Amino acid sequence: MNRKLPELAHSQSRRLAAVQAPVIPIVGRWTAETPGTISLGQGVVSYQPPPQAIAAARAFGDTLQDHRYGPVEGLPPLVDAIEHKLARENGITVRPHSRVLVTAGGNQAFMNAILAITDPDDAVILPTPYYFNHEMAIVMAGARAVGVPTRSDYQLDLPALDAAIDGRTRAVVTVSPNNPTGAVYPEADLRAVNALCRSRGLFHIHDEAYEYFSYGEARIFSPGSIADAAEHTISLFSLSKAYGMASWRIGYMVVPLALNDAIHKIQDTILICPPAASQHAAHAAMHVGRAYAAPHVEQLDRTRRTVYAELTALGVPCDVPPAQGAFYYLIRAHTSLDSMTLTERLIKEHRVATIPGSAFADASPCSIRISYGALDADSVSEGLRRLIGGLKALA
Ligand SMILES: Cc1ncc(COP(=O)(O)O)c(C=O)c1O
Repeated sequence: MNRKLPELAHSQSRRLAAVQAPVIPIVGRWTAETPGTISLGQGVVSYQPPPQAIAAARAFGDTLQDHRYGPVEGLPPLVDAIEHKLARENGITVRPHSRVLVTAGGNQAFMNAILAITDPDDAVILPTPYYFNHEMAIVMAGARAVGVPTRSDYQLDLPALDAAIDGRTRAVVTVSPNNPTGAVYPEADLRAVNALCRSRGLFHIHDEAYEYFSYGEARIFSPGSIADAAEHTISLFSLSKAYGMASWRIGYMVVPLALNDAIHKIQDTILICPPAASQHAAHAAMHVGRAYAAPHVEQLDRTRRTVYAELTALGVPCDVPPAQGAFYYLIRAHTSLDSMTLTERLIKEHRVATIPGSAFADASPCSIRISYGALDADSVSEGLRRLIGGLKALA
């Protein structure tokens, strides 16, 4: 008997159909098909977590309690350590007006925030180029991502952000240091966005996943530290980059007290509690503190300067807007190819992988993101040699 299934029985929801396919797996497939490719694509660091974190994970599991569900917001010693760190390093006073929640990474923290504050068709403003998972989360929640282009130096266009706000806007998102551009936003601009959100009744979601990665004169500023910010500011953090702990899936968020119940409902449904073994490792890592990242960040700064010097040398057909944070450059290639085609041909013909700017909704015709976080000095110079050769050949 061949009964026809009712229409739609096997298809994804319209909401999910509207979500862009992640580009990293596509680039990953091209890379895997081209042995020997050097990846300037992945946004990861080269170093491992502090040994103390690994030791804490090894010591985990001896008690029955280790295997039971824990508190929705995270284990008390970790929440406590996070609150102290926020006060000490970010100038964020969590209590009494906000709360900390440990999440399975910064990505889950962002999803929690969007689910907590948007109704279907509400709008969330994202400066472009944006971090693609932010846009995906907004669309997945049934809301609308409204892209507002940054200036040619990838800094915020404050009048344009203001002009993009309408009656359905719920939040403005900022990411500093930025993925994919490496831009670090000055304190004055972040204060202006925070004040704009406050005056227009919006949330300001600020992603600080790269807070330890700034170079030269650039100074990191946390808008959550502004005196009247607690009620409308959601700050997101991650241990993935700072401590080389991407696979452990630990991040955290600071949420206004009025949103805490909503955020708990979401977390209770999606995660119940953050993974306990990872929280123990995270606690040990935070005890070591940001000094752990410091020498790695110094090395990254040297790599960053090399990348900049080589890509801005005479005859390399690209523009390189300066970047003082994270471990990215978003360069504009001088070619008639679109960024997806350029990426594919750089991999298949020149064995070097980058990420196409189209994945970040970059307005320029052909930009590609160069990530230098995961490479040793030799791989960087060979990767750059191939990239420059490829750009010249495909210009
Ligand atoms: C801006 C930004 N936020 C969040 C994340 C995700 O971090 P996590 O591993 O903590 O989910 C990334 C990862 O690349 C990122 O670039």
